[in-house]
Parts: sequence; C-alpha cells; structure tokens
Amino acid sequence: MTYVIAQPCVDVKDKACIEECPVDCIYEGKRALYIQPDECVDCGACEPVCPVEAIYYEDDVPEEWTPFTAANVEFFDKIGSPGGAAKMGLIEDDHPLVQSLPPQGEGS
Ligand code: F3S
Ligand code: F3S
Repeated sequence: MTYVIAQPCVDVKDKACIEECPVDCIYEGKRALYIQPDECVDCGACEPVCPVEAIYYEDDVPEEWTPFTAANVEFFDKIGSPGGAAKMGLIEDDHPLVQSLPPQGEGS
C-alpha cells in the first residue's frame, strides 16, 4: 500500500510534505508532486502537514480523485524507483491526468 497525492496539490505544490518524508519518496513534477508507491513506507507523516489536504492513504482517497492513485503509480513508469527525490530535483513532466486539468487554485 502507499499514500497518494491527489488533485489539491496541482498548481499549489506547497512541499511541506517533502520535509516530513523519512525516505524521500515524494517527487516533484511540473504541476504536482507524486509519491513513489514502491518507496513509500506508509508512515503517514506527510498526510497531516499538507495545507490543502491533498494526501491520502490509498484506501481513503476520495472517490472524485481515485484516478490519482493510478497517476501516482504511472508517473514512475518512465523513471522507475530512483531511490530518493532530492537528487532528482524538478522532473519536467506530469501525468496526463494532471496535464489535462485547467489551472487550479486561486482565481480559477
Ligand atoms: Fe502538494 Fe500538499 Fe505536498 S500541496 S507538495 S501534497 S504539502
Ligand atoms: Fe513518505 Fe511516509 Fe508519506 S514514507 S510519502 S511520508 S507516508
């Protein structure tokens, strides 16, 4: 199992979650962050610190955002399991689900 970052992160990218993750498995895409499901140790530390409540345990993702569970998996199809987000830095890519969204957040 894993934690999942859902739609509220898109175009917000607060990044408070990154500071909490003991295994550095939260990766930054262009418009959102993604949790590497094979690297996540299910500690739950990231979930309460997200100011927009974007993070959920896999079983608890709200129904409207369930496609984000697959998006967090598929984002890593190309890059696999890098073993640490810090060394990757900003990944100039997003899952198609995120790419398809209109601008999110204030003013939208
Ligand atoms: Fe996104 Fe929330 Fe982390 S907005 S970057 S999931 S703290
Ligand atoms: Fe990392 Fe724990 Fe969240 S391993 S992604 S802080 S559940």
